[in-house]
Amino acid sequence: MAVDKVKVASPATLSNLGSGFDVFGLALDEPYDEVEARRIDERRVIIERIDGWGAKSITTDPLRNSAGAAALAVLQRAKADFGLAISIKKGIRPCSGIGSSGASAAGGAYAANLLLDQPLPLEEVVYCAAKAEEATAGSFHADNVGPAVMGGFTLIKSYRPFRILRMDPPADLGVVVTMPDILVNTKEARKVLPQQVDLKSMVFEIGNASALVLGMCRGDVGLIGDSMQDIIVEPARAPLNPHLREAQQAARDAGASGTFLGGSGPCVIAIFDRTQTDGRDIERAVRAVYENNGIKCNSWVTSAGLGCRRI
Ligand code: HSE
Repeated sequence: MAVDKVKVASPATLSNLGSGFDVFGLALDEPYDEVEARRIDERRVIIERIDGWGAKSITTDPLRNSAGAAALAVLQRAKADFGLAISIKKGIRPCSGIGSSGASAAGGAYAANLLLDQPLPLEEVVYCAAKAEEATAGSFHADNVGPAVMGGFTLIKSYRPFRILRMDPPADLGVVVTMPDILVNTKEARKVLPQQVDLKSMVFEIGNASALVLGMCRGDVGLIGDSMQDIIVEPARAPLNPHLREAQQAARDAGASGTFLGGSGPCVIAIFDRTQTDGRDIERAVRAVYENNGIKCNSWVTSAGLGCRRI
């Protein structure tokens, strides 16, 4: 038998990265959720406890809780003959745009997988976590759970059949995450998106997305940042974060290589070259935009991270 109890850290993630809506994702070093899972004899999943940031807003119904639904999906896929009792400690605020439900889903799936006698391949773990996101957040997107499980930079080559690719991002890639005190629900933020795009916009996005991947391959943080441009999704969501454009300009003026709206928002993300700056000026500049408008913020100066890990 494998171990009967595990605890994992599951990181916040950046999704979209501007030009790669529902495709690109990047694991962060911090913040992260903690998910603990313990084998039980009954073939079901129970959520024993949820603590931490926004815990009171999260359901303990295992089918609607992203960690619970993801763990169950792994157990069912592996035809496991046991169940799990799960505890969650939220280090990532819900409705943040940095993959809060995705981190819990990834942590639940990853922890369940560690408890299997014959673990599933990581791509299947990602798939199970994405199915849980669908059950709990209403859409099947894997650009948060992908990097949360696998770490580094990931891209979804196709959803049907499901295929995800990963690579290590450049070591010099720094990230400033600024989270204003505004809540954005992903389900609602997907309703404002256009369902059709014109050919010129498509060409613009493909050009930028391709250049971003080339930047990752070359280790060129400037090219990555310059390619985080999106003229389809971000403009539709900009009204959900009233000072987004001003904050992005402030980040660029303070030395950011690129900026974008984290996932469905409201987090503002700025990336920077760690050989040029430590990111603190960027953090100060973006925070000032919100604080001068009476909106409190949390912020992190961090880097790309490893994905789920046992702690
Ligand atoms: N790609 C998804 C979206 C991520 O932008 O809706 C949600 O966090």
